[in-house]
Amino acid sequence: MLIRRVQVQGLRRLVNVDLQPGPGFNLLIGDNGSGKTSLLEAMHLMAHGRSFRGRIRDGLVRSGEPALQVFLEWEQPGQPSRRGGLRHSGSAWEARLDGNHVGQLGELCEALAVITFEPGSHALIHGSSEVRRRYLDWGLFHVERSDAGGDFLSLWRRHARAHKQRNALLRQGRADGQLDAWEHELALAGESITLQREAYVARLQAHVDTLLAEILPAAGAATLSLQPGWRRQELGLADALLLARERDLAQGHTTVGPHRADLKLEFRDLPGRDGLSRGQAKLAALVLLLAQASHLATHAGHWPVLQLDDLASELDRHHQRRVLQVLVESRAQVFMTGTESIPALASLADRHTTFHVEHGEIRAVV
Ligand SMILES: Nc1ncnc2c1ncn2[C@@H]1O[C@H](COP(=O)(O)OP(=O)(O)O)[C@@H](O)[C@H]1O
Ligand SMILES: [Mg+2]
Repeated sequence: MLIRRVQVQGLRRLVNVDLQPGPGFNLLIGDNGSGKTSLLEAMHLMAHGRSFRGRIRDGLVRSGEPALQVFLEWEQPGQPSRRGGLRHSGSAWEARLDGNHVGQLGELCEALAVITFEPGSHALIHGSSEVRRRYLDWGLFHVERSDAGGDFLSLWRRHARAHKQRNALLRQGRADGQLDAWEHELALAGESITLQREAYVARLQAHVDTLLAEILPAAGAATLSLQPGWRRQELGLADALLLARERDLAQGHTTVGPHRADLKLEFRDLPGRDGLSRGQAKLAALVLLLAQASHLATHAGHWPVLQLDDLASELDRHHQRRVLQVLVESRAQVFMTGTESIPALASLADRHTTFHVEHGEIRAVV
């Protein structure tokens, strides 16, 4: 996937920028506070419907502006180029895809694949299970479209709806036929989601193996597994929900199921999740993100756009070089930010585009 044009207005530091990135590496160089991360946020926002720096209403829209706007043009090999537009006032959004009004942000997210590694990415290792579920589900949105297994987005929506309905009935203390019906639906959708998540985790494993050897060899080997969110070895989701009913009625919400799932990552030569240093957790998070990207590349035939925010301050030179090597070999389009140019890159990549970022303005360096 190749982003050809980026226009952003009123997003944090950015007043009005318009740039034409190149294929391969795009370096965004500028002082602290100049607006580099804001640009990555703009592309991430369109691809994920959310920012990686907190909620949209908490200051993503530039102060004094009514709304932010992002417009992107991108292409995929063998397909006509696409145009996406997003306007967000902080509370309400409007979106367009190829000139047509978009009813659900999920449609934009499905069309554009962007993966971002940023200082907060270690949450993939040290953060709550919600971060890892979102990671898994993002991968599934992009690989399970209209395949035989059914498209993941509609399955996910079915599950979310049934989950919400069951919780509403639990809060009303209603253990009646309606609860039976929604539980049935929840169990059906939930079992399918779990099967898809499980298959996805299994397919990620080979990509994690390869990347771990290149980026974090000290880990020895890693094993990924899915914790489904209930005692699945012993009972189906329908039974688990029925068994939990009394407790769930008392608590007023559903305590078992795929909304509690987690991705487990174990290393042969390193301690578990909580024993990893912050630096190791960052590398492990990067391995997971790149594994997802490389799996998508194998499955869909094209790499997602990769964004790496402030890699130089996140990783030591040795690891930076290893990561750059992987990125160069991938031939993916990459956006990287930094306060100065990256010497190692010059020797690795024959072609890259540099942009200077200053006071919220971005210009290409020729
Ligand atoms: N809503 C906002 N309106 C205006 N300026 C903002 C807003 N949010 C953040 N900023 C400013 O943007 C700058 C940070 O931009 P950022 O993209 O993180 O810079 P960089 O990544 O280059 O360090 C800070 O100076 C901050 O004050
Ligand atoms: Mg920054």
